[in-house]
Amino acid sequence: MPSTIVMTGASRGIGRVAAERILREAPQAHLVVAARGSTGARLAAELDGTGSRVSHVAVDLGVPDSVRSAAVEIRGRLDRGELPPLHGFVGNAGIQYTNALTEGPGGFESTFAVNVFANHLFVRLLEDRFHTPARIVITVSDTHFGDFAHNLGMVPGPVWRSPDVLARPGAFPEPRGTAAGRTAYSTSKLAAIYLVHEYARRLRAGVDAVGFNPGFVPGTDLARNAGPASRFAMRRILPLLTRTRFATSRAAAGRCLADVVLGATAAPTGAYVDRDRVARSSEESYDPRREAELWESLERFIAPYAA
Ligand SMILES: NC(=O)c1ccc[n+]([C@@H]2O[C@H](COP(=O)([O-])OP(=O)(O)OC[C@H]3O[C@@H](n4cnc5c(N)ncnc54)[C@H](OP(=O)(O)O)[C@@H]3O)[C@@H](O)[C@H]2O)c1
Repeated sequence: MPSTIVMTGASRGIGRVAAERILREAPQAHLVVAARGSTGARLAAELDGTGSRVSHVAVDLGVPDSVRSAAVEIRGRLDRGELPPLHGFVGNAGIQYTNALTEGPGGFESTFAVNVFANHLFVRLLEDRFHTPARIVITVSDTHFGDFAHNLGMVPGPVWRSPDVLARPGAFPEPRGTAAGRTAYSTSKLAAIYLVHEYARRLRAGVDAVGFNPGFVPGTDLARNAGPASRFAMRRILPLLTRTRFATSRAAAGRCLADVVLGATAAPTGAYVDRDRVARSSEESYDPRREAELWESLERFIAPYAA
């Protein structure tokens, strides 16, 4: 049956590989790529020369009004029958900064805005348009473990605080520094796992939510905001690690993401998929009290944009 999958973060990195595989493996899928500025049109043309299997919607995920416009536009296209029924949402876009002070419109810290807020606004604005079975996949990260085994000491572990603090600039000590920016990143991914657990409890039966961890994937542009040495290492040196168990190649990560999106990797709602199998996320990531608090806070944050 023809079905629509909405995807963020398809323009490059892990998502670009996943988008290509989704289109190859699921001939009935129509992909709506939500991407910045003119990127979506170019991406759609590159992914699908015929123009029938990929369409695009412009969005800057760091701008709440832009996320709202994109979701409303998708709803309109679904309602007018211009897109096949909605069966999937892939929140793959992500960003990492080298400080915890970057602020976007709405006053939200930008890591939180892109990695947490945008996914939640998209999910809530598309929620009633899903046809079941539907699957929501949010790309998370094993940096949420915060130990050496999972990120080789490159990213500090999460530091949980009230969501009202986490959502705003300056949530972590010495917020001008790289460590604070990376702490914001790992903490945002812990928050994303909490949200997946909450979606599993709150979304209607048949609308599943899964967190996907690609492992450490050097060679993408995730470190684009870092200094020249880190960028060089991410692009040229660390990819050597993909020959070891410490890292995943971009090709393998994209393949794994596509398999989760298409259901080729079986996972119950609320699951954490570590590359190609269901696994347990960190002990800290199972916390119903924090999960409920995050849900309540996000509902309050998105209220002006979700009405
Ligand atoms: N690489 C790793 O080691 C690793 C490990 C664990 C998890 N992850 C996660 O995997 C996902 C993909 O990351 P990647 O490594 O493939 O990085 P990447 O190459 O930098 O790709 C990031 C994607 O997110 C999009 N994006 C970022 N900010 C956006 C915004 N404000 N509005 C719209 N789109 C935005 C980018 O679009 P543009 O082209 O417009 O920039 C791009 O498509 C992220 O969620 C990341 O946190 C990565």
